[in-house]
Amino acid sequence: MFALNLNKRTMPVFYGKVALIDYLKSIKTPHSTIGFVPTMGALHQGHLSLMQQSLAENNTTVVSIFVNPTQFNNPEDLSKYPRTLEADITKMNGLSTDVILYAPSVDDIYDGKVLSQEFNFDGLENQMEGKFRPGHFDGVGTIVKRLFEIVSPTNAYFGEKDFQQLQIVKKMVLKNNLEVNVIGCAIYREKNGLAMSSRNERLTPEQRADGALILEILNVAKEKFKTNSASAVTQWVEKSFRKSAPFELEYFQIADETTLTPCLRKSSIKKYRAFIAVTINNIRLIDTISLN
Ligand code: PAF
Repeated sequence: MFALNLNKRTMPVFYGKVALIDYLKSIKTPHSTIGFVPTMGALHQGHLSLMQQSLAENNTTVVSIFVNPTQFNNPEDLSKYPRTLEADITKMNGLSTDVILYAPSVDDIYDGKVLSQEFNFDGLENQMEGKFRPGHFDGVGTIVKRLFEIVSPTNAYFGEKDFQQLQIVKKMVLKNNLEVNVIGCAIYREKNGLAMSSRNERLTPEQRADGALILEILNVAKEKFKTNSASAVTQWVEKSFRKSAPFELEYFQIADETTLTPCLRKSSIKKYRAFIAVTINNIRLIDTISLN
């Protein structure tokens, strides 16, 4: 354990799993709960709101900061992913010194073998992000399972921006009989509507301002979906991006919220969501909106 400032109370920071596991064991009582917020750092208000929710709902809150190499299919994306541990620690101390931080090394997690386990998420992994980022969800499954084994949380908090990831983590928990409640939390947005993401740090102020367009288009798509088919709405979105956006559209998909399969024919008993991924200057942004 490492304390930043001996005069002032600061949150406990662990860089190794053995010390963290021992510490969590030492504070555990028969009915105490652990809330867990896994992150890759470059913390923003969205992460802090997950931590706040966990603090309100649990006796102990653990946050991990770990840029997980196995979930990056693009080496440039991995090398450019923002790493801002000191600033993250300052933000977390500003929020609450009751949070426990786990900031492991690659070796602490992977024990010398930086490899993904292979998962079957009943097809959830083959849609959208899974198509465009091969191996991504095996990497996510591997790290989340590993972190769950280390932290043994009662409740784990995930943002709905990564809705596909959220469904995949829920599936992993179900299939492996893990005793953890996976809680999805509403998307936190910048003032102009751009979904908060650690990758936003890499945008110029102008690109960040242009990011408003993503939610604007999603909102119009939602309106249009009331009276149009999924394919008509998709065509409209594709055309809108071709015409005027500074962003390149990677995909737009209207999908069943549970199976994540594309909506071919609307059913009144199903819940649908629109999913979008765009790139600007090789920076990849995703967003999603519930449609009904
Ligand atoms: O959403 C993220 O930040 C990551 O995918 C996660 C869940 C922390 C796993 O590395």
